[in-house]
Amino acid sequence: MAESKTDRSRYPSHPAQVRSARHHAEQVLREWGVGDSTTDAVVYVACELTSNAVRHARTTQGREFGMTLRLLESIVRVEVRDPDPTLPAPADGEDLEADSGRGLLIVDRLTSSWGSAPDVLGKTIWADIPLEFADARADHAALCAE
Ligand SMILES: Nc1ncnc2c1ncn2[C@@H]1O[C@H](COP(=O)(O)OP(=O)(O)OP(=O)(O)O)[C@@H](O)[C@H]1O
Ligand SMILES: [Mg+2]
Repeated sequence: MAESKTDRSRYPSHPAQVRSARHHAEQVLREWGVGDSTTDAVVYVACELTSNAVRHARTTQGREFGMTLRLLESIVRVEVRDPDPTLPAPADGEDLEADSGRGLLIVDRLTSSWGSAPDVLGKTIWADIPLEFADARADHAALCAE
């Protein structure tokens, strides 16, 4: 059984910090020895969820977001917290080429499961990426442009 590992980081709620979170995720996964396809998928998911935390979380309190990465037995779990209690609302449909509203659809393709849960202040959105990430899904992992 793989040893479980956890990394927690926090960022000011500013668009430039999405890139910081993304680079941090990439560095942590390399340190943990996670393979390239899984790392690409985790980095995409981290980028999308942190980008949403900056763009969509509406609040006057606690203007920061947090990211937790967990290496578990057969998955990497990404958790992103923000201070807005509104839970995300994925678009209906399957249009992965749409100008907007496609981020969570792609997260859905890249993960074995994902969801959201209220916190005392705000919420956490979590997503599980399999360690044996199928290469067939990997082409979606290059799209997050933040
Ligand atoms: N952290 C969040 N807090 C509040 N609402 C959210 C959050 N994340 C997503 N949402 C809501 O869910 C919708 C769908 O998110 P999704 O990431 O799929 O699309 P988008 O961010 O609008 O566009 P895209 O990701 O394609 O640039 C958002 O438009 C927003 O209304
Ligand atoms: Mg989005």
